[in-house]
Amino acid sequence: MTLALATTSPATTACDALVIAVMPQGPATPEGSGVELAAHGLPDAALTAISSALTALGAKGKPGEVTRIPSVPGVKAPVVIAVGVGNLRATIDTENLRRAVGAAIRSAVGMRKVAIVAAPQEDLLAATAMGARLAAYDFTDFKGKGSAKATAGSSPVASIVLLVPGPATAAQKRLIADTEVIGDAVCLARDLVNTPPNALPPAKLALAAKDAVAGLPVKVTIWDERALARHGCGGILGVGQGSANPPRLARLDYAPAGAKRQLIIVGKGITFDTGGISIKPAANMDEMKGDMAGAAAVIAAVQAIARLGLKVKVTGLVPTAENMPSGTAQRPGDVITMFDGTTVEVLNTDAEGRLILADALGIAVQDKPALIIDVATLTGAQRVALGSRTAGVMANDDAARAQVCAAADRAGETMWPMPLPEELRASLDSATADIANIGDRMGGMLSAAVFLKEFIPNGQPWVHLDIAGPAFNDKSPYGYTPKGGTGAAVRTFVQVARELAAG
Ligand code: BES
Ligand code: MN
Ligand code: ZN
Repeated sequence: MTLALATTSPATTACDALVIAVMPQGPATPEGSGVELAAHGLPDAALTAISSALTALGAKGKPGEVTRIPSVPGVKAPVVIAVGVGNLRATIDTENLRRAVGAAIRSAVGMRKVAIVAAPQEDLLAATAMGARLAAYDFTDFKGKGSAKATAGSSPVASIVLLVPGPATAAQKRLIADTEVIGDAVCLARDLVNTPPNALPPAKLALAAKDAVAGLPVKVTIWDERALARHGCGGILGVGQGSANPPRLARLDYAPAGAKRQLIIVGKGITFDTGGISIKPAANMDEMKGDMAGAAAVIAAVQAIARLGLKVKVTGLVPTAENMPSGTAQRPGDVITMFDGTTVEVLNTDAEGRLILADALGIAVQDKPALIIDVATLTGAQRVALGSRTAGVMANDDAARAQVCAAADRAGETMWPMPLPEELRASLDSATADIANIGDRMGGMLSAAVFLKEFIPNGQPWVHLDIAGPAFNDKSPYGYTPKGGTGAAVRTFVQVARELAAG
């Protein structure tokens, strides 16, 4: 997939389709009476033909509304795709624009090259580019040889050209290049999530982390099961001990010269979550291949941050294990000792994510970084509370939580602040160990976060992202979001790193 900026005329650019934005008509005319084209560089004959086609077809310019018009006079492209973007004159909602452009690009499956008549303002151009880049995705690594025919004509758009009135500025060129880097990373995270669990056991996920940063100034350290034992990672080992595929911990260190601050990002890497001895019901258990989406986001974000050369130290920690029931699996009632020495009574082996994260957080706090963010498909309760598209954001520090929520908003990701009620800590009390791994079921997303907080010393800013819903789209594609892995949290991490680098 390539993204390019060009200043050629939309009328004469050679491509399979030309995308133009349309808005509902201005306040002077009654709502619903027609649409206004937000396009530059088209001859009057083309504008008239497009307008009358849109009127005839009843287009309203609503965000994401896609109308395809063939053979427009004065336009070289054989098809014009008009996409509603809402009212760009009002407060600019860049996320609406990203999604609308995404819908247009998804409607162009099977076409090779698509040109978009883009607004030149930097925020609008960036949103247009990102929406287009993220929509041009599918995952075919595991389609059999014979399926080439079946998928012919259904590949995503391979080449996207953003047309701006010339000359293109340095800032415009840079933002297109940045969009490619971040878009590649989001798609890498999606690929990792979509990869079947038999093809991506913990050792392979750790190697994928290494591959992701090959050739970049990132130091990679991988602990195998023996190193994990040596370092006392009882959580990762306990969760992993039921599987024939042993656990790992991957550490990625990006430390550019001149960086003042350190960000540590920690991602849950359960390559498959059966629940273990506290086994899950069969329905939709296949979706638990996505239980490493936090790890995927961390790996992808470190790649993007290093490629962008951001002046901030970033460490990615990826604890990874497969949660299986077997004769060697941990039992409900087992007590394990975490990296920091805390003992945990495992009352439910399906609450495994917090166990592997506890070890990794214990490692993270040793560096005393400016900020630790962990990201995990941690609880079904997250989906009950916030639905499948909004991540929960919890923290031990109000400013840090607000900072991450604001960064998510700027990056176009939906995240919402949630509390850490103190009274939930008592529900995690264990008669035998320092703490139990399950607490109150009511507010289960919050109980899980309160468990994690136990491993963060006072004064260490820490934010926890529960992406159980947003990481995986089990429904139809929408906007720029495909079915399956979504790449959730990657753009937010890059945005946070950018803001820390800026000071
Ligand atoms: N990986 C699951 C959470 C999950 C559920 C993610 C659905 C995505 C979709 C996690 O390991 C889990 O099983 N959590 C339990 C915790 C409970 C036992 C306290 C849950 O949410 O039921
Ligand atoms: Mn589980
Ligand atoms: Zn899990």
